[in-house]
Amino acid sequence: MTERFRLSVNGVPAEVEADSDTPLLYALRNDLGLKGTRFGCGSGQCGACFVLIDGHAAPSCDTPLWSAAGKRITTVEGLGKGGSLHPLQQAFLAEQAAQCGYCISGILISAAALLAMNPRPTESEVRAALDRNLCRCGSHNRMVRAVLRASAQPTS
Ligand code: FES
Ligand code: FES
Repeated sequence: MTERFRLSVNGVPAEVEADSDTPLLYALRNDLGLKGTRFGCGSGQCGACFVLIDGHAAPSCDTPLWSAAGKRITTVEGLGKGGSLHPLQQAFLAEQAAQCGYCISGILISAAALLAMNPRPTESEVRAALDRNLCRCGSHNRMVRAVLRASAQPTS
């Protein structure tokens, strides 16, 4: 049975009508047109679908709509402000940190959660924060450099 859910996505109210167990990922991509969040494993194991939920990086493939309702959801599309890229996005470009790019939105989300809590992380803290995100291109070292580069910039 479908229900209507009120979401807050990238600071904008949204309504989705779906079964309560529908993954948040499906609502973001299929109902709200936010295609930056990716489907990878579909079981909470790869990080491709991560979004910020009340500031914490979480797998949207493994988050049912009933538990996302009423929380602040931020997707990769919501990281930048006022038409400007987030410092992390600028740093990923500067370091050429993406290869195929499939994992990047989830990695940016994990990194954004880290910098919001810890604006000057050590390299080992960055590696720990990205530990749940898989990258089959093996671009992790460039991504770590990009996060460290971004940590030297103001994030708001
Ligand atoms: S698609 Fe969600 S964690 Fe892999
Ligand atoms: S850049 Fe290709 S999967 Fe990470």
